[in-house]
Amino acid sequence: MVLIDGKKVSAEIRSRLMKETAELKSKTGRAPGLATVLVGEDPASAVYVRNKNKICNEIGFQSFGQNLPAETTEAQLLDIIKELNENDKVNGILVQLPLPDHIDSEKILLSIDPKKDVDGFHPINVGKLAIGNALLTPCTPTGIIVLLDYYGIEIAGKHAVVMGRSNIVGKPVAHLLLQRHATVTICHSRTTNLEQVTRQADILIAAVGRPHFVSSDMVKEGAVVIDVGINRVDGKLTGDVDFDPVAEKAGFITPVPGGVGPMTIALLMENTLKAFKASL
Ligand code: GUN
Repeated sequence: MVLIDGKKVSAEIRSRLMKETAELKSKTGRAPGLATVLVGEDPASAVYVRNKNKICNEIGFQSFGQNLPAETTEAQLLDIIKELNENDKVNGILVQLPLPDHIDSEKILLSIDPKKDVDGFHPINVGKLAIGNALLTPCTPTGIIVLLDYYGIEIAGKHAVVMGRSNIVGKPVAHLLLQRHATVTICHSRTTNLEQVTRQADILIAAVGRPHFVSSDMVKEGAVVIDVGINRVDGKLTGDVDFDPVAEKAGFITPVPGGVGPMTIALLMENTLKAFKASL
């Protein structure tokens, strides 16, 4: 069994981005800029956003953080996004999800300039991803593909089974795998005989949001198991995969933490640099 080290791969990506940013800065006199928008005080979201801004600065990007109170209205948020859309120093805009219930997330995502949509959540970019010509693709799904490539795992012709159908992970990763010529099956909470389906997977992506949901009975011998879960159990970060027994069967497996998680931020930075380069 090979343990997939997302921490190492993400550190390599970040150091490559840092180098490229320094070169671009000396050539253009400009640095890529990322604006993060956090509404409310959800502690997990606050940690994510803080981290994003910190890594942004480490790489040499400009970071524009907006921490807004939970009472922020939809109209106020739309105004802020309009300003960020018009600000030439801002190449990427990330609105941390979930938003408070009184704000319509779909309306907010639709208001972001697709060229600055570094999350890849705008319907234009979702459509481009489905067609297969998107520049900005969702960070966590793209990070998964980068990990598979880094470890030399063949995707073309393999049966990839995606557990979960969210707009953030399940659906976009299915598209990316399909683009790379995998045979893709998407399973979800209404799938019957789930175990029969997941046992066929050469590559199994677990994105269900339930701790230890994937047992070793659900996994084929030698499969590549990618755990996208971030569940908090007694204060401890736990994936969707019952790690120890599944690791005994898997050919490759990602740990939680230290697997897919660190890749998300690295790919967010990669998308910001891409958006910056496209704006030059
Ligand atoms: N909330 C959980 N994951 C994400 C993500 O990738 N982007 C944003 N904006 N919010 C999230």
